[in-house]
Amino acid sequence: MQIVIEKNLAYNTLALSEIAHALNAEGIKFDVIWDEGRRVCLDVSRADIVHTASRLGLARRCFAVLKIGTLEEVLGFADSIRVDGTFCVRAEHNPELEKTLGAKINGIVSLENPGVLFFVFSHGSNFYFCKKLWEIDNRAYFLREVKNRPFFMPVSIHPKIARAMVNLAEVRAGDCVLDPFCGTGGILIEAGLVGANVIGNDIRKDIIAGARKNLLAYGVQKFELTCGDVGVLSQKLKCVDAIITDPPYGRSATTMGESCDTLLQRAFKVFSELLSTNKHLVIVLPGQPVEQISNFQLIEVHQVYVHKSLTRYICLYRKE
Ligand SMILES: C[S@@+](CC[C@H](N)C(=O)[O-])C[C@H]1O[C@@H](n2cnc3c(N)ncnc32)[C@H](O)[C@@H]1O
Repeated sequence: MQIVIEKNLAYNTLALSEIAHALNAEGIKFDVIWDEGRRVCLDVSRADIVHTASRLGLARRCFAVLKIGTLEEVLGFADSIRVDGTFCVRAEHNPELEKTLGAKINGIVSLENPGVLFFVFSHGSNFYFCKKLWEIDNRAYFLREVKNRPFFMPVSIHPKIARAMVNLAEVRAGDCVLDPFCGTGGILIEAGLVGANVIGNDIRKDIIAGARKNLLAYGVQKFELTCGDVGVLSQKLKCVDAIITDPPYGRSATTMGESCDTLLQRAFKVFSELLSTNKHLVIVLPGQPVEQISNFQLIEVHQVYVHKSLTRYICLYRKE
């Protein structure tokens, strides 16, 4: 089955990578047919794709491709469609085509609140006639933005980026995910919402109390929080399936006086003790990452605008 996903172009490489890793996490095989502008067309091994699409933070909509062909072929195909209930046709930059197709499809047109949304666009010499399967819930992400959380600190990355990081780590429902520098819990919330059991740690007691409030406010129930220095975590915890984290850089988020390099060196030693082999570490770093740190191999790096006036590197490492 072919699907088309609209990506958030502001994060193009990360958005495409997120899709690939989310499909891996859900055990769906795929081939990229084409990737152009904000759209990527994929051949996927399973039709029940909505659950996987709904994990994505940096995608906008997902469509099933019903017909690819010339305009005549697409018009002919529309003649054969019968919709039980309401529908609407949207054709990119082409209101006339919307009307023509709408008149051919058998069903009740509703422009306001259609039960089925058909979408037509051209790619190369072909027209793609698609049916919308999923659209991102921007309101839900907005409500999880740091300023809207019960506990607020201006150091948290955007929930859509946090969600993409969870997907890069190929987290599955039931996995145990650790954020050793959890702050307000932004990453833990996104991991919890995809069904992971989450563990958060922070050096500050007041922040851990705030993270608890936030996790509860967004309905994450399977969580454990610990307070202390990252260096002692391997004495407190068992092995985890993924580590996803945004460590402090010594600007708005404190390193408690320690240099960032020393803190990261200590942290990587602990990550190595806690992460199972072949599992993923996704970490936001302040500069270009190194290829290999202890037994972590760099797989991907995405340069993104994360905090106000700050560009960061989202790095995917695999534990060897
Ligand atoms: C960039 S913030 C994390 C933001 C987080 N992702 C969120 O959603 O709010 C980094 C956090 O690391 C914590 N931290 C600093 N030094 C630490 C250490 N040695 N061990 C554990 N946590 C530490 C800080 O208190 C801060 O909350």
